[in-house]
Amino acid sequence: MVVASQKGGGGKTATTCQLAYYLLDLTVPTLLLDLDMQMNATRCMLRGRVAAVAGFSTTQVLEGHWSALPAGDLVLVPADQGLGELERQPQRHNDFVNALQAFLQEVASRFRVCLIDTHPSPDVRYVAALATADLVLSPIVLTQEALEGVGAFLHHPRHGYLRIRERLNPRLELVGLLPNMVEATPFQRANLRQLVEQHPGLLIPVQRGEVAGYALIPTRTAIAEAQAAGVPLWQLRQAAPAGAAKAAGAMPLRSAARDAWREIRPSFEAIARRLGVGG
Ligand SMILES: Nc1ncnc2c1ncn2[C@@H]1O[C@H](COP(=O)(O)OP(=O)(O)OP(=O)(O)O)[C@@H](O)[C@H]1O
Ligand SMILES: [Mg+2]
Repeated sequence: MVVASQKGGGGKTATTCQLAYYLLDLTVPTLLLDLDMQMNATRCMLRGRVAAVAGFSTTQVLEGHWSALPAGDLVLVPADQGLGELERQPQRHNDFVNALQAFLQEVASRFRVCLIDTHPSPDVRYVAALATADLVLSPIVLTQEALEGVGAFLHHPRHGYLRIRERLNPRLELVGLLPNMVEATPFQRANLRQLVEQHPGLLIPVQRGEVAGYALIPTRTAIAEAQAAGVPLWQLRQAAPAGAAKAAGAMPLRSAARDAWREIRPSFEAIARRLGVGG
């Protein structure tokens, strides 16, 4: 599943990393590919030291040079700066796409899920990811600009989801738009309503108790903090006081993080079901 959107900073990386941790909790063998040379997912995973890290980068995968992956239930293939060079080699673009497909085919039997974090501009890496994936999940912030961008995400003549499905990958399915950094303001509520009206069926249905709604992630500082620490949201601990003898791992869990996780969990469960894992 590719996590993609054409707006920067909408929560692709946070969603990808936290989903990867959630899948690990479910003991679902998961491969995480970072295709963004900003390396945010890579840094998050390196800080958290939960994932096993491959000895080669996604640039090397696209160039067809990979070797054996490390053992582990969550394995990261990190990004590097070389990703930025690939767009400038148009004569090799088809080879990059074929190499990514060959790599995933080779490792497919070891993993149940592969998550791919992308960067926000639709270049060859973006197209390679969508040309290879089964599913795409698109985090979206409920601003007017982002809502107006949904049309291009779907219909853009070169890199729109529907065009890629038509031209390159008929298997590709949209899991849905995932509103992120959602605030309980009248403005955002109105934007959510507008999204539902303009694109019925693109949100991910979620049942919360008796209430039927959609998958979404509220704005919660704990999410940014969990990403900064590289840990699962539900395992975010209070910061150890400076000079304290207590190890960071012995600090109590942050109640705000647990509350945030309680809010988000039904959405992650719904996404996991679309991935064919989880109850
Ligand atoms: N729901 C949220 N609540 C609070 N902070 C969030 C939330 N989602 C993401 N963030 C934070 O917002 C910032 C941007 O999120 P993130 O890096 O995941 O976006 P992105 O779409 O991957 O950005 P880019 O397009 O640059 O790759 C990060 O600092 C992240 O930790
Ligand atoms: Mg990112």
